[in-house]
Amino acid sequence: MQAIVRSRYGSPDVLRLVDLPVPVPVGDEVLVRVHASSVNRADLDYLTGTPFLTRMGTGLRTPRHHGLGLDAAGVVEAVGPGVTRFAPGDAVVADLFAFGQGAFAEYACAPERAWTAKPAGVSFEAAATIPQAALLALQGLRGGRDIKPGDHVLVNGASGNVGPFAVQLAKAFGAEVTGVCSPSKMDFVRSLGADHVIDYTSEDYAASGPRYDWILDVMARGSVLRPRRALRPGGRYVAAGGTTGAVLQAMAVGSLVSLAGSRTLGLLIWWKPGNRDDMARLLAMLEAGTLTPAIEHRYSLAEVPDALRRLEAGLARGKLVITIQ
Ligand SMILES: NC(=O)c1ccc[n+]([C@@H]2O[C@H](COP(=O)([O-])OP(=O)(O)OC[C@H]3O[C@@H](n4cnc5c(N)ncnc54)[C@H](OP(=O)(O)O)[C@@H]3O)[C@@H](O)[C@H]2O)c1
Repeated sequence: MQAIVRSRYGSPDVLRLVDLPVPVPVGDEVLVRVHASSVNRADLDYLTGTPFLTRMGTGLRTPRHHGLGLDAAGVVEAVGPGVTRFAPGDAVVADLFAFGQGAFAEYACAPERAWTAKPAGVSFEAAATIPQAALLALQGLRGGRDIKPGDHVLVNGASGNVGPFAVQLAKAFGAEVTGVCSPSKMDFVRSLGADHVIDYTSEDYAASGPRYDWILDVMARGSVLRPRRALRPGGRYVAAGGTTGAVLQAMAVGSLVSLAGSRTLGLLIWWKPGNRDDMARLLAMLEAGTLTPAIEHRYSLAEVPDALRRLEAGLARGKLVITIQ
């Protein structure tokens, strides 16, 4: 099979397309012929080995896993003797975060608990946009309390992988939604259904203006006390990711500040990658048409480095999908 691999940390230039033996599923493993994948900011983090602290889990000097790619959607090719939920021919989807990655390949093999059934009405490409990005968006809009109709939700970083799902989910929950992005992507964020769009190069959402019931920050930077000013009493600020300093602050300072007042600040530490209930809920929304992945471009397996370069350069609007023939 063809697969994208790397033997060291680095830029997309270290990636190679190579021939590897097709894995043989053992025990409770499911072998899947991958039809589609998509790229995520996390793929870039694993590729480059940054922030450095994450290498404690991924391999200090060289990456423990040579494959790359988290989102996988495809058809079951073979199953190990211990598999009970799937049979060859079933269409499935998974986040391979906890299963060695390797979705940028013609075949992926992972325990059956990694996989969720894909509804027939959802294409492989659409399903492949869901595992990382839409789950982060869904789980970032929950925790402690649900979003109520009429709540005002701000999505900081509304134009990338996670943001477009967050905008659409918050709208589906009945919220008034403000998206924050760069000027060239404002029309794109409006097209997702955002009621208001803020250009972060000319306006600081926290400085003045409306107050929000919920802020999902995809790219936290600076002091965690700044977004606190933009929260209404009882409001929540959730950082999904960002600079190392901002993430550590959201974790440490955020918890302390939350104890002292009615506003809650924190990091999305309740993230459950590949949670099958959440995956099934999002797939059902895709099938019902209440959620539509914003797919900007499609790439072949050989073009994975190009897709990652586009994401790294901040050019992508929505998802970049890898279609595997
Ligand atoms: N918490 C967890 O457990 C967990 C797990 C996996 C991943 N993550 C994190 O989740 C995040 C996923 O983000 P993503 O995939 O959506 O990233 P992305 O596709 O790279 O999108 C980044 C977004 O941030 C915006 N942005 C850039 N600079 C900004 C600024 N100064 N102010 C406001 N917005 C700005 C971009 O807008 P423009 O493009 O318009 O400039 C874009 O909308 C990453 O930080 C990742 O590390 C967290």
